[in-house]
Amino acid sequence: MNMSEIKIFSPASVANVSCGFDVLGFCLELVGDEMIIRKTKSQGVKITKIEGQKLPLDIKKNVAGIAAEALVNAYPSKEGFEIEIYKKIQAGSGIGSSAASAAGAVFGINELLGKPFTAHELIGFAMEGEGLASGSSHADNVSPILLGGITLVRSIKPVDVIKLPCPKELTAVILHPKIELKTFHAREIIKKNVSLEKAIQQWGNLGAFISALFNEDYELMSRSLKDEIVEPVRSLLIPEFKLLKKASINAGALGFGISGSGPSVFALTKGKDIANKVSQAIVEVFSPIGIDFEIHISTINNQGIEIIPN
Ligand code: HSE
Repeated sequence: MNMSEIKIFSPASVANVSCGFDVLGFCLELVGDEMIIRKTKSQGVKITKIEGQKLPLDIKKNVAGIAAEALVNAYPSKEGFEIEIYKKIQAGSGIGSSAASAAGAVFGINELLGKPFTAHELIGFAMEGEGLASGSSHADNVSPILLGGITLVRSIKPVDVIKLPCPKELTAVILHPKIELKTFHAREIIKKNVSLEKAIQQWGNLGAFISALFNEDYELMSRSLKDEIVEPVRSLLIPEFKLLKKASINAGALGFGISGSGPSVFALTKGKDIANKVSQAIVEVFSPIGIDFEIHISTINNQGIEIIPN
Protein backbone atom coordinates (compact mmCIF):
# COMPACT_ATOMS: atom_id res chain seq x y z
CA MET A 1 0.00 0.00 0.00
CA ASN A 2 1.35 3.43 -0.93
CA MET A 3 0.47 5.59 2.06
CA SER A 4 0.93 9.34 2.05
CA GLU A 5 0.08 9.96 5.69
CA ILE A 6 0.32 8.00 8.90
CA LYS A 7 -0.84 8.58 12.48
CA ILE A 8 1.04 6.84 15.25
CA PHE A 9 1.05 6.30 19.00
CA SER A 10 4.54 6.47 20.47
CA PRO A 11 4.48 5.22 24.06
CA ALA A 12 6.29 6.31 27.19
CA SER A 13 9.02 4.07 28.56
CA VAL A 14 11.08 3.39 31.67
CA ALA A 15 14.85 3.21 31.18
CA ASN A 16 17.60 1.78 33.41
CA VAL A 17 15.17 -0.34 35.51
CA SER A 18 17.56 -0.10 38.50
CA CYS A 19 20.14 -2.75 37.60
CA GLY A 20 20.58 -1.80 33.91
CA PHE A 21 21.82 1.77 33.63
CA ASP A 22 21.77 2.73 29.93
CA VAL A 23 20.98 -0.86 28.86
CA LEU A 24 17.55 -1.93 30.19
CA GLY A 25 14.18 -0.44 29.35
CA PHE A 26 10.50 -1.28 29.12
CA CYS A 27 7.55 0.18 27.31
CA LEU A 28 4.36 1.47 28.97
CA GLU A 29 0.71 1.23 27.95
CA LEU A 30 -1.66 4.18 27.60
CA VAL A 31 0.71 7.10 28.19
CA GLY A 32 2.27 8.26 24.93
CA ASP A 33 2.54 10.91 22.22
CA GLU A 34 0.62 10.99 18.97
CA MET A 35 2.27 12.01 15.75
CA ILE A 36 1.10 12.55 12.19
CA ILE A 37 3.69 12.21 9.45
CA ARG A 38 2.95 12.92 5.82
CA LYS A 39 4.81 12.87 2.56
CA THR A 40 5.51 16.19 0.85
CA LYS A 41 6.54 16.94 -2.72
CA SER A 42 9.59 18.96 -1.67
CA GLN A 43 12.50 17.02 -0.21
CA GLY A 44 13.69 17.25 3.38
CA VAL A 45 12.06 17.10 6.80
CA LYS A 46 9.87 19.78 8.40
CA ILE A 47 8.16 19.90 11.76
CA THR A 48 5.00 21.85 11.08
CA LYS A 49 3.16 21.62 14.38
CA ILE A 50 3.80 20.79 18.02
CA GLU A 51 0.89 20.80 20.45
CA GLY A 52 0.96 20.14 24.17
CA GLN A 53 4.37 21.61 24.84
CA LYS A 54 6.73 24.41 23.86
CA LEU A 55 9.44 22.70 21.81
CA PRO A 56 11.41 24.02 18.82
CA LEU A 57 10.10 23.44 15.30
CA ASP A 58 13.67 23.79 13.99
CA ILE A 59 14.64 20.26 12.96
CA LYS A 60 18.23 20.75 14.11
CA LYS A 61 17.01 21.56 17.62
CA ASN A 62 14.28 18.95 17.92
CA VAL A 63 15.01 15.27 18.66
CA ALA A 64 12.34 14.17 16.18
CA GLY A 65 13.90 16.33 13.45
CA ILE A 66 17.42 15.07 14.07
CA ALA A 67 16.30 11.43 14.08
CA ALA A 68 14.19 11.93 10.94
CA GLU A 69 17.08 13.60 9.12
CA ALA A 70 19.43 10.76 10.05
CA LEU A 71 17.03 8.28 8.41
CA VAL A 72 16.36 10.42 5.34
CA ASN A 73 20.11 10.91 4.79
CA ALA A 74 20.61 7.16 4.88
CA TYR A 75 17.76 6.53 2.41
CA PRO A 76 17.53 9.42 -0.05
CA SER A 77 14.08 9.84 -1.55
CA LYS A 78 12.49 12.27 -4.01
CA GLU A 79 9.84 13.08 -1.46
CA GLY A 80 10.06 14.91 1.83
CA PHE A 81 8.19 14.55 5.11
CA GLU A 82 6.34 16.84 7.46
CA ILE A 83 5.77 15.96 11.08
CA GLU A 84 3.07 17.01 13.53
CA ILE A 85 3.68 16.16 17.17
CA TYR A 86 0.95 16.00 19.81
CA LYS A 87 2.95 15.76 23.04
CA LYS A 88 1.30 13.95 25.91
CA ILE A 89 4.53 12.95 27.65
CA GLN A 90 6.02 15.92 29.44
CA ALA A 91 9.61 16.77 28.55
CA GLY A 92 12.03 16.17 31.42
CA SER A 93 9.63 13.76 33.14
CA GLY A 94 11.87 10.68 33.04
CA ILE A 95 9.49 8.50 31.05
CA GLY A 96 11.12 8.87 27.68
CA SER A 97 9.56 12.01 26.23
CA SER A 98 12.37 12.75 23.77
CA ALA A 99 12.72 9.05 22.92
CA ALA A 100 9.01 8.86 22.00
CA SER A 101 9.40 11.80 19.59
CA ALA A 102 12.60 10.44 18.04
CA ALA A 103 11.27 6.89 17.70
CA GLY A 104 7.93 8.15 16.37
CA ALA A 105 9.56 10.21 13.63
CA VAL A 106 11.72 7.37 12.29
CA PHE A 107 8.99 4.75 12.63
CA GLY A 108 6.48 6.91 10.72
CA ILE A 109 8.86 7.86 7.91
CA ASN A 110 10.01 4.25 7.54
CA GLU A 111 6.38 3.11 7.15
CA LEU A 112 5.71 5.79 4.50
CA LEU A 113 8.84 4.70 2.62
CA GLY A 114 7.60 1.09 2.52
CA LYS A 115 9.74 -0.15 5.42
CA PRO A 116 13.27 -0.14 4.01
CA PHE A 117 14.64 -0.50 7.57
CA THR A 118 13.98 -3.09 10.26
CA ALA A 119 12.89 -2.01 13.75
CA HIS A 120 16.41 -2.80 14.97
CA GLU A 121 17.91 -0.52 12.33
CA LEU A 122 15.54 2.29 13.31
CA ILE A 123 17.04 2.25 16.82
CA GLY A 124 20.28 3.72 15.43
CA PHE A 125 18.49 6.69 13.81
CA ALA A 126 16.26 7.35 16.82
CA MET A 127 19.31 7.28 19.06
CA GLU A 128 20.84 10.19 17.16
CA GLY A 129 17.86 12.31 18.19
CA GLU A 130 18.14 11.14 21.80
CA GLY A 131 21.76 12.29 21.78
CA LEU A 132 20.57 15.90 21.50
CA ALA A 133 18.38 15.61 24.59
CA SER A 134 20.93 14.01 26.87
CA GLY A 135 24.33 15.01 25.56
CA SER A 136 25.32 11.43 24.80
CA SER A 137 23.76 8.59 22.83
CA HIS A 138 22.00 5.74 24.53
CA ALA A 139 19.26 3.43 23.31
CA ASP A 140 17.57 2.22 26.49
CA ASN A 141 14.39 4.31 25.90
CA VAL A 142 14.08 4.14 22.12
CA SER A 143 14.62 0.35 21.98
CA PRO A 144 11.54 -0.75 23.96
CA ILE A 145 9.43 1.82 22.06
CA LEU A 146 10.51 0.42 18.69
CA LEU A 147 10.65 -3.28 19.63
CA GLY A 148 7.99 -3.35 22.37
CA GLY A 149 8.26 -5.03 25.78
CA ILE A 150 11.51 -5.16 27.73
CA THR A 151 14.81 -4.72 25.94
CA LEU A 152 18.51 -5.04 26.65
CA VAL A 153 21.04 -2.93 24.78
CA ARG A 154 24.19 -5.04 24.45
CA SER A 155 25.94 -2.40 22.34
CA ILE A 156 25.14 0.91 20.65
CA LYS A 157 28.10 0.82 18.22
CA PRO A 158 27.10 -1.30 16.41
CA VAL A 159 23.47 -1.34 17.56
CA ASP A 160 22.81 -4.75 19.12
CA VAL A 161 19.57 -4.93 21.09
CA ILE A 162 17.80 -7.99 22.47
CA LYS A 163 14.07 -8.17 23.17
CA LEU A 164 13.56 -10.01 26.46
CA PRO A 165 10.59 -12.09 27.59
CA CYS A 166 7.91 -10.18 29.40
CA PRO A 167 6.19 -12.02 32.29
CA LYS A 168 2.43 -11.45 31.92
CA GLU A 169 1.74 -10.32 35.46
CA LEU A 170 4.58 -7.82 35.60
CA THR A 171 3.00 -4.42 36.31
CA ALA A 172 4.54 -0.99 36.72
CA VAL A 173 3.47 1.86 38.95
CA ILE A 174 4.84 5.21 37.83
CA LEU A 175 4.86 8.38 39.91
CA HIS A 176 5.57 11.50 37.93
CA PRO A 177 6.26 14.46 40.22
CA LYS A 178 5.63 17.59 38.17
CA ILE A 179 9.14 18.97 38.43
CA GLU A 180 11.47 19.03 35.47
CA LEU A 181 14.82 17.26 35.55
CA LYS A 182 16.93 17.51 32.43
CA THR A 183 18.62 14.26 31.40
CA PHE A 184 21.66 16.28 30.44
CA HIS A 185 22.02 17.55 34.01
CA ALA A 186 21.15 14.18 35.58
CA ARG A 187 23.97 12.60 33.54
CA GLU A 188 26.47 15.27 34.55
CA ILE A 189 26.12 14.60 38.26
CA ILE A 190 26.83 10.87 38.18
CA LYS A 191 30.31 9.59 38.91
CA LYS A 192 32.26 8.56 35.85
CA ASN A 193 34.23 5.81 37.57
CA VAL A 194 32.81 2.76 39.30
CA SER A 195 34.63 0.57 41.81
CA LEU A 196 35.17 -3.07 40.90
CA GLU A 197 33.07 -4.06 43.92
CA LYS A 198 30.07 -2.05 42.72
CA ALA A 199 30.51 -3.25 39.12
CA ILE A 200 30.43 -6.87 40.33
CA GLN A 201 27.19 -6.23 42.25
CA GLN A 202 25.62 -4.53 39.24
CA TRP A 203 26.42 -7.16 36.61
CA GLY A 204 25.36 -9.88 39.07
CA ASN A 205 22.00 -8.15 39.49
CA LEU A 206 21.57 -7.46 35.78
CA GLY A 207 22.28 -11.06 34.80
CA ALA A 208 19.96 -12.33 37.53
CA PHE A 209 17.16 -9.98 36.47
CA ILE A 210 17.34 -11.23 32.90
CA SER A 211 17.33 -14.84 34.05
CA ALA A 212 14.29 -14.02 36.23
CA LEU A 213 12.43 -12.64 33.21
CA PHE A 214 13.07 -15.86 31.28
CA ASN A 215 11.93 -18.02 34.19
CA GLU A 216 9.12 -15.76 35.47
CA ASP A 217 10.90 -15.89 38.81
CA TYR A 218 9.42 -12.91 40.66
CA GLU A 219 11.47 -13.49 43.81
CA LEU A 220 14.70 -13.33 41.86
CA MET A 221 13.44 -10.20 40.07
CA SER A 222 12.91 -8.65 43.46
CA ARG A 223 16.40 -9.59 44.70
CA SER A 224 18.02 -8.15 41.60
CA LEU A 225 16.17 -4.83 41.14
CA LYS A 226 19.00 -2.90 42.79
CA ASP A 227 21.22 0.01 41.80
CA GLU A 228 24.21 0.88 43.96
CA ILE A 229 25.83 3.04 41.31
CA VAL A 230 23.51 5.74 39.95
CA GLU A 231 20.53 5.75 42.32
CA PRO A 232 22.44 6.98 45.41
CA VAL A 233 23.41 10.17 43.56
CA ARG A 234 20.33 10.89 41.46
CA SER A 235 17.82 10.04 44.19
CA LEU A 236 18.98 13.15 46.07
CA LEU A 237 17.12 15.20 43.42
CA ILE A 238 13.81 13.40 44.00
CA PRO A 239 11.66 14.55 46.92
CA GLU A 240 11.08 11.82 49.54
CA PHE A 241 12.74 9.13 47.40
CA LYS A 242 13.73 6.97 50.38
CA LEU A 243 10.27 7.13 51.96
CA LEU A 244 8.59 6.35 48.64
CA LYS A 245 10.85 3.33 48.17
CA LYS A 246 10.22 2.03 51.68
CA ALA A 247 6.45 2.49 51.38
CA SER A 248 6.38 0.74 47.97
CA ILE A 249 8.40 -2.25 49.15
CA ASN A 250 6.26 -2.52 52.31
CA ALA A 251 3.15 -2.51 50.11
CA GLY A 252 4.51 -5.49 48.16
CA ALA A 253 6.53 -4.03 45.28
CA LEU A 254 9.22 -6.28 43.80
CA GLY A 255 11.50 -3.27 43.45
CA PHE A 256 11.48 0.51 43.26
CA GLY A 257 13.80 2.91 41.48
CA ILE A 258 14.25 6.00 39.33
CA SER A 259 12.63 5.92 35.91
CA GLY A 260 15.31 6.93 33.43
CA SER A 261 17.00 10.05 34.70
CA GLY A 262 14.00 11.02 36.87
CA PRO A 263 12.14 12.76 38.40
CA SER A 264 9.62 9.95 37.73
CA VAL A 265 10.05 6.86 39.86
CA PHE A 266 8.73 3.37 39.21
CA ALA A 267 7.80 0.28 41.16
CA LEU A 268 7.37 -3.16 39.63
CA THR A 269 4.82 -5.57 41.04
CA LYS A 270 3.43 -9.01 40.39
CA GLY A 271 -0.12 -8.25 39.30
CA LYS A 272 -2.54 -5.32 39.36
CA ASP A 273 -3.85 -5.84 42.92
CA ILE A 274 -0.44 -5.26 44.44
CA ALA A 275 0.13 -2.40 41.98
CA ASN A 276 -3.01 -0.71 43.35
CA LYS A 277 -1.73 -1.08 46.92
CA VAL A 278 1.69 0.28 45.95
CA SER A 279 0.06 3.19 44.14
CA GLN A 280 -1.97 4.04 47.25
CA ALA A 281 1.14 3.86 49.45
CA ILE A 282 3.01 6.17 47.07
CA VAL A 283 0.16 8.69 47.01
CA GLU A 284 0.02 8.69 50.83
CA VAL A 285 3.71 9.57 51.03
CA PHE A 286 3.78 12.05 48.18
CA SER A 287 0.51 13.99 48.59
CA PRO A 288 1.51 15.93 51.74
CA ILE A 289 4.61 17.35 49.99
CA GLY A 290 2.45 19.69 47.93
CA ILE A 291 4.12 19.02 44.57
CA ASP A 292 1.66 18.31 41.77
CA PHE A 293 1.98 14.74 40.45
CA GLU A 294 0.50 12.05 38.22
CA ILE A 295 0.41 8.36 38.96
CA HIS A 296 -0.02 5.59 36.39
CA ILE A 297 -0.45 1.84 36.65
CA SER A 298 0.54 -0.04 33.51
CA THR A 299 1.32 -3.53 32.38
CA ILE A 300 4.32 -3.84 30.10
CA ASN A 301 3.43 -2.82 26.56
CA ASN A 302 4.74 -5.71 24.50
CA GLN A 303 3.68 -4.19 21.20
CA GLY A 304 5.46 -0.84 21.47
CA ILE A 305 4.89 1.90 18.92
CA GLU A 306 1.79 1.47 16.78
CA ILE A 307 -0.19 2.87 13.89
CA ILE A 308 -3.48 4.53 14.80
CA PRO A 309 -5.98 3.48 12.14
CA ASN A 310 -7.92 6.25 10.37
N1 HSE B 1 19.86 5.84 30.61
C1 HSE B 1 19.49 7.22 30.52
C2 HSE B 1 19.93 7.93 31.76
C3 HSE B 1 18.01 7.33 30.35
O1 HSE B 1 19.61 7.44 32.84
O2 HSE B 1 20.61 8.95 31.69
C4 HSE B 1 17.51 8.75 30.24
O3 HSE B 1 17.50 9.20 28.94
